Amino acid sequence: MRVPDLALTFDPDPPQRVLVVDDEPLNLDLMLAYLEPEGYQVTTVTSGQEALSAVAASPPDLILLDAMMPGLDGFTVCARLKATLETRLIPVVVVTALAAVEERIHAINVGADDFLSKPVYRLELIARCRSLLRAKRFADELETVEHVIRSLTRAIEARDGYTERHTERVTGRAGALGMNIGLNDAALRTLQMGCMLHDVGKIGIPEAVLSKPGKLSEEEFAVMRRHPMIGVEICRPLRSRIIIQALPIIQHHHERIDGMGYPDGLRGVEIPLLARIAAIADAYDALTSDRPYRSRMSVEQAVAVLRAGTGTQWDTELVSAFLTLDTGILDAHFHVSASVANWTT
Ligand SMILES: [Fe+2]
Repeated sequence: MRVPDLALTFDPDPPQRVLVVDDEPLNLDLMLAYLEPEGYQVTTVTSGQEALSAVAASPPDLILLDAMMPGLDGFTVCARLKATLETRLIPVVVVTALAAVEERIHAINVGADDFLSKPVYRLELIARCRSLLRAKRFADELETVEHVIRSLTRAIEARDGYTERHTERVTGRAGALGMNIGLNDAALRTLQMGCMLHDVGKIGIPEAVLSKPGKLSEEEFAVMRRHPMIGVEICRPLRSRIIIQALPIIQHHHERIDGMGYPDGLRGVEIPLLARIAAIADAYDALTSDRPYRSRMSVEQAVAVLRAGTGTQWDTELVSAFLTLDTGILDAHFHVSASVANWTT
């Protein structure tokens, strides 16, 4: 029997969608004539207001935006799109007059990803579009990976008997602590990824151990202690740069300052900084959450436990910084708002 060609059984990628905004219909016709033969799905509108409505109704993959239009001009539209969470990652090319240096500077200041001069040359237009659309497709794929990770962590939480959204609260509080001590964006992004994945290794822990309604025996605890290294083994092959950078958080989030933690018994500053941060946020959420075998502590009790454990279980300075966070963030019912959930982007 002939083996079917697998490549033929996959649907091709859907065409990418380009929105062209220009108050001059002749310019729109020209853009359509250039772009449609390239396989893009092109939509045209003739004003800034229509552009905002079209983007809200159905976000395109790229926007070509005329700078000078009556009513809302291209700069205002670009600034609004870049200030809005849902639309800020859509690449925008501002189309300006050839000699207008000020317009180009203005376009950069309002967040445009690129600009083109009029008259627009076909090959230049297509080259710019291709490059921005390739980057957009890549960004969309990364977003999909993040959604997969979120679903995976929720599935683990359900098995683990935690109240819903433990991982999000750990990530949100760790991020708040990271910002409080002045971590830069790259470190915050790594911290976010590490916190989202910190317990992914629990997927390899038997249900009987994971959700046992009582204290674990020594043997069971030995099994449980394997989850950081299982997590590292799951994540390492993913080969994503940010996930590789986050591996020390996954591996070391149960280390203790006094060297009595696991899996490696690291002490003090041998424990990577981001793992020390994650450990505090993780422990605090465990203390303030209901578990199958005990009910949650009050915030005051949990704070007392953290204070008592400084210098032995947790980093003293980091606990101090953690306890200066806003009371809303320390609240047991802390809900990770969009602004906190997106602190790294
Ligand atoms: Fe853990």
